[in-house]
Amino acid sequence: MSAYRFYMPALNHMGAGCLDEAISDIRTLGLKKALVVTDKVLVDIGLVASVTEKLGTAGITCVVFDETKPNPTVKNVEDGLAQLQSADCDCVISLGGGSPHDCAKGIALVASNGGKIGDYEGVDQSENPQLTLVCINTTAGTASEITRFCIITDEQRHIKMAIVDKNTTPAMSVNDPSLMQGMPRQLTAATGMDALTHAVEAYVSTASTPVTDACALQAVELISTWLRKAVYDGDNMEARDQMAYGQLLAGMAFNSASLGYVHAMAHQLGGFYDLPHGVCNAILLPHVEAYNSKVCPDKLARVAAAMGVDISGLTPREGAERALEEIQGLSWDVGVPEGLEVIGVKKEDFGTLADNALKDACGLTNPIQATKEEIIEIFEGAF
Ligand SMILES: [Fe+2]
Repeated sequence: MSAYRFYMPALNHMGAGCLDEAISDIRTLGLKKALVVTDKVLVDIGLVASVTEKLGTAGITCVVFDETKPNPTVKNVEDGLAQLQSADCDCVISLGGGSPHDCAKGIALVASNGGKIGDYEGVDQSENPQLTLVCINTTAGTASEITRFCIITDEQRHIKMAIVDKNTTPAMSVNDPSLMQGMPRQLTAATGMDALTHAVEAYVSTASTPVTDACALQAVELISTWLRKAVYDGDNMEARDQMAYGQLLAGMAFNSASLGYVHAMAHQLGGFYDLPHGVCNAILLPHVEAYNSKVCPDKLARVAAAMGVDISGLTPREGAERALEEIQGLSWDVGVPEGLEVIGVKKEDFGTLADNALKDACGLTNPIQATKEEIIEIFEGAF
């Protein structure tokens, strides 16, 4: 194995009730005024008020930016940055799922580097560490609270920009499963399938390492064991806790091993039709891995084993087939739509979507590089 590196936030809080300890730690950072980046749903259910009250008690004044869209936009970043600057905040705290975390990363990165968020599209384009960012997570999940990935929708170009930058790694992450109990069923399913996609894509990635492989396989096992329970019994704290842990491990895997064509293609569907990220991934995952199985059947067979399949006596091809069946079964069990047509995707757009998918940085580490025609075929298979 050649030399490799591994990225993580310096401090990560896990487990029910960890938010209180995290706030004590935030106080020790000497921060005075936070821009809290969140969304209106979390304001409406009262979660934002309860967290900002705790932060206030710890001596941190909060200014709330709650405009974040499900697919956060360039405008979201610009508006949040303007609010941060006019209120003279010295840090950013994101509260929510991947959307607030990504929006907060965009704000914190531009706050310390200047320019526009689009200047940082690509890999490691910034010079300075972002403003101090703490991510309090409420879904399981994108794992954006621990990653250096920041996905921002450019509404003018109808694409999602992938900003992959060591400087967007948050200073601290908080995964308190008691904050995830209220997550609705569909969101639990979509974000859980996103996490499974992270684990599988990182495991078969050309940039995988022994560290990321260990994280990925354990994540597959946890998610396949606990996602159904988390979806259909949302108050089951053990299921929420195990999903919080599983999605974190999946994030640790892809943060360093990167992803593949599922994300490269799903980003285009999200940017073009404003569709939920997890749902697009869940629909595409078995189809992309069926395509990948011609080059990495042994790895996909080990995914099947991590999902509880007895692969002894099976050929790698047969094991890979069983992985595809298990993934599809889990997806349908948790209520993910059966195909892209149902969620409003149009066949006539496949050419444009394929062109853009091949430009997405996530596709570079897919185990086999595809032609435009092959990407279109995968879209057609998932239609
Ligand atoms: Fe994702």
